[in-house]
Amino acid sequence: MSINLIEFPEDFLWGTAVCSHQAEGHNVNSDWWEWEKKGKIADGTVSGAAADMLNRYPEDFKLMSDLGYNSFRFSVEWARVEPERGVFSEDALRHYEKVLDELRARGLKACLTLYHWPLPKWMAKRGGWTAEDSPELFGRFVKRVVERVYGKVDIWCTLNEPMVPVIAGHLFGEFPPERRSWNEARTVFKNLLKAHVEARRRILDAWRRSGESDEPLIGIAQAVVDAAPVNPDNILDSAIHKFIRFFHNDAFPKALSSGKVPPPFGFNEKISGLKDSFSYSGVNYYTRMRINFNLKKIPGSLNDFLYLPEGAETTAMGYEVYPPGFYNVIKDAARYGKPVYILENGIADATDAQRPGYLLRHLKQVKRAIDDGMDVKGYFQWSYIDNFEWKLGFEKKFGLVEVEPGTLNRKPRPSAYMYGEIARTGKITRELAEKYAPNVIEEVFES
Ligand code: FCB
Repeated sequence: MSINLIEFPEDFLWGTAVCSHQAEGHNVNSDWWEWEKKGKIADGTVSGAAADMLNRYPEDFKLMSDLGYNSFRFSVEWARVEPERGVFSEDALRHYEKVLDELRARGLKACLTLYHWPLPKWMAKRGGWTAEDSPELFGRFVKRVVERVYGKVDIWCTLNEPMVPVIAGHLFGEFPPERRSWNEARTVFKNLLKAHVEARRRILDAWRRSGESDEPLIGIAQAVVDAAPVNPDNILDSAIHKFIRFFHNDAFPKALSSGKVPPPFGFNEKISGLKDSFSYSGVNYYTRMRINFNLKKIPGSLNDFLYLPEGAETTAMGYEVYPPGFYNVIKDAARYGKPVYILENGIADATDAQRPGYLLRHLKQVKRAIDDGMDVKGYFQWSYIDNFEWKLGFEKKFGLVEVEPGTLNRKPRPSAYMYGEIARTGKITRELAEKYAPNVIEEVFES
């Protein structure tokens, strides 16, 4: 059966997301800044001025609100706020205060991420997340931030994709500090759980002082993939698929829910304050992983388990486009019985040829989840603007808004307008799909 209209709940959050290191520019006291200068970035770039959101955020928030978006997710940079151990930068704190005030003035709700990967150099030098007191030091930084901005934030995201520092940073050596140590990975996993607890404690302290009745929304953004074995009858593929799914998607949220460190990261030992320490499930979804384990190959990275059939639809990142997987991971996230926020979903696409269709097909899956009773409250598109895509540099263009090289002027891509129409009306109509992505009409409007 075909339908003509897809409607979302009235109070739905329609946002976009960035991470400050990737978009603000000049995060000079961070470990990433130093690492980039060592020629580690695939396209030879460094984050540099990035999209210069550090200075241009007023113009950006005006554009977001003109386009019709109603919320924005970004991060505070620890390295900016605490450039030296125990020395807190008044300039940086004022900056983030002003950013949040400006958002509010434009009528945009704020989702604030407290850790989105870069560490201050001084933290990295003393072992980063492997140091025993790293959770406490993170808590001290968070306290300073929360004291200044509590009341201006609508959704708190303590950690972005904590499995990335665990896996890419400490297990497979792909991101700073480029370590390959299972022991370190386990320590980092545990310390990030504790860091979440510390951060939450500081936010709740501020909440108690505020006298507000409703508890603040606090959670993490979990990177999830829809993992599937290529051959379910193959015992190895199927076992590895289960392991990857647990390792990648479930281990961290399960720990936040149970309060214990699950094997193989721990021995089910309890962490005080961890049990049920989140009030929403944050989902970052980009792709699915088809697992096909090759016995002859020793995996040097999680990607070595992956298989992509010839002709599969992919993005510029080489990710498979698989919208039904979005529904599956939302369903998984909803198991915890809390509201779900999509904190990232998007596509690298310089010409905007794929993005409108990608967006519509993924939003359709969000709607499917809502219709099936899942409490999805908002969707943040990655990304508002072209930015520094970590190890891959500026070559990958995730922005709804393009950044003109040289001038750094903003140029909204067609999908930026399309997303604005959806955000303003809460609807996807056939006319809209015909205008922006006629090739996906059938898929989007089948019931
Ligand atoms: C996510 C990261 C984000 C960005 C997107 C493409 O894993 O959280 O910073 O790099 O991928």
